[in-house]
Amino acid sequence: MFQPKTIIEPFRVKVVEPLPVRTRAQRAEALAAAQLNLFSVRACEVTVDLMTDSGTSAMSQEQWAAIFRGDESYAGASSFFRFREVVSQLTGMHHVIPVHQGRAAERILFSVVGGEGKTIPANTHFDTTRANVEASGAVAVDLVIEEGRSPSTEHPFKGNLDVPALQKMLEQHAGSVPMVVVTITNNSGGGQPVSLDNMRQVRAVCDRFQIPLFLDCARFAENAWFIREREPGQESRSPKDIAEEMFRLADGTWMSAKKDAFGNIGGFLALKDDALAEQCRNLLILTEGFPTYGGLAGRDLEALAVGLQEVLAEDYLEYRIRSTRYVWRRLDEAGVPLLRPAGGHAVYLDARGFLPHVPPSELPGQSVSASLFLEGGVRTCEIGTVMFGRTQDDGSQSPGPMDLVRLAIPRRVYTQSHMDYVIEAVRYVFEHRNQLGGLRIKNEPPTLRHFTCGFEPIGWDPLAPLAAAARKPRAAY
Ligand code: F0G
Repeated sequence: MFQPKTIIEPFRVKVVEPLPVRTRAQRAEALAAAQLNLFSVRACEVTVDLMTDSGTSAMSQEQWAAIFRGDESYAGASSFFRFREVVSQLTGMHHVIPVHQGRAAERILFSVVGGEGKTIPANTHFDTTRANVEASGAVAVDLVIEEGRSPSTEHPFKGNLDVPALQKMLEQHAGSVPMVVVTITNNSGGGQPVSLDNMRQVRAVCDRFQIPLFLDCARFAENAWFIREREPGQESRSPKDIAEEMFRLADGTWMSAKKDAFGNIGGFLALKDDALAEQCRNLLILTEGFPTYGGLAGRDLEALAVGLQEVLAEDYLEYRIRSTRYVWRRLDEAGVPLLRPAGGHAVYLDARGFLPHVPPSELPGQSVSASLFLEGGVRTCEIGTVMFGRTQDDGSQSPGPMDLVRLAIPRRVYTQSHMDYVIEAVRYVFEHRNQLGGLRIKNEPPTLRHFTCGFEPIGWDPLAPLAAAARKPRAAY
């Protein structure tokens, strides 16, 4: 039987969007104007945009068709009920609160359950989650397993929560912990999955202390696929079946539907608890909208309802995970230091290994990220000291737990040749890594600084052409 090795995109192209192709000189100008912050670069300057997989999916013909069914009634729109049905079936939770994106759910939820004196443990809080927990006055604590804190350690479920550490924390502070959060997949920890076994153990600890368990489920389908691939005894189950079990272990969940629902916008909060749902709905009305649209158009709810079902298709998930792994493997073969193993939605470069001569306090991830854009027009995102570190009173930087550069792959958007181009660009910058130096932050806002801060180089010119003399012999390919 024909057993192809090539993993093909399980779709063909119906509408095309031109890619911006720019010169290095144009990019140098854009980068200088942006003070080396890629969030300040216009998308028209970017050739392959791997800044995020969030809101960047290509929608399917079924999603576009559903958009025409959008019911834009202010109250009681039929689109809401279709959306609610899909979310309730998937999660087993009957309160479904639509929001315009994940962080709106976080703000509402933590406004209700957070506050001074509270502590919210998670495997790893995503940046907006941490910011919303902290904005409420509560403390966000990351309890990912030891293996999940080191880029080079191999482990099938590096997103797992450290159960003994959670237990210890609850023995001391159970009264001040309003919920335990499990992020699937663990985005800030490298897009790594959490096993079903780990979720069951966390559930058991939550039961012991009578604390609700919440899933931040932005990439639940990718997590379900990893469970099927890697967890003994799960290999014959459908991703849908696994996903349903994950959700049934939880008391509540929120989703940025801009990821595994193929939405360009959207999210939801789903809950079991009636009183909590009522409090959340009241806040929703204050800032998002009426509970049957929550900041979204009826047509968005329709597209998300379709996307949430499509994402669990086995051919899609197999392609998704294997195509990410393809990029990872080709970079690994070239000796590029990577977070191991490949994540679901992204490949993460280990910037501390990539630029060992640049200390974490000099922002090696940002330096690599800026250079990838300059040389190849590839936009990536630093997940490290810029995102999670802090400027101390004396002006020095406290480093983040790791310094990563994320190459997040939008869903159903780029083909293999785009990714081959990206691989070439990363290899090129890697070959010239000795010429890259460190950066410092020039100006920063009080929270979520990575979005808007400016950078300046420490004693080097980040816009200078990379000298050919520093290249390794081509045989290194
Ligand atoms: N939780 C996780 C795990 C996320 O990855 C994100 C967003 C959010 C919550 C917040 O959702 O953006 O819809 O408000 N992650 C994006 C990213 C931004 O690039 O990884 P949002």
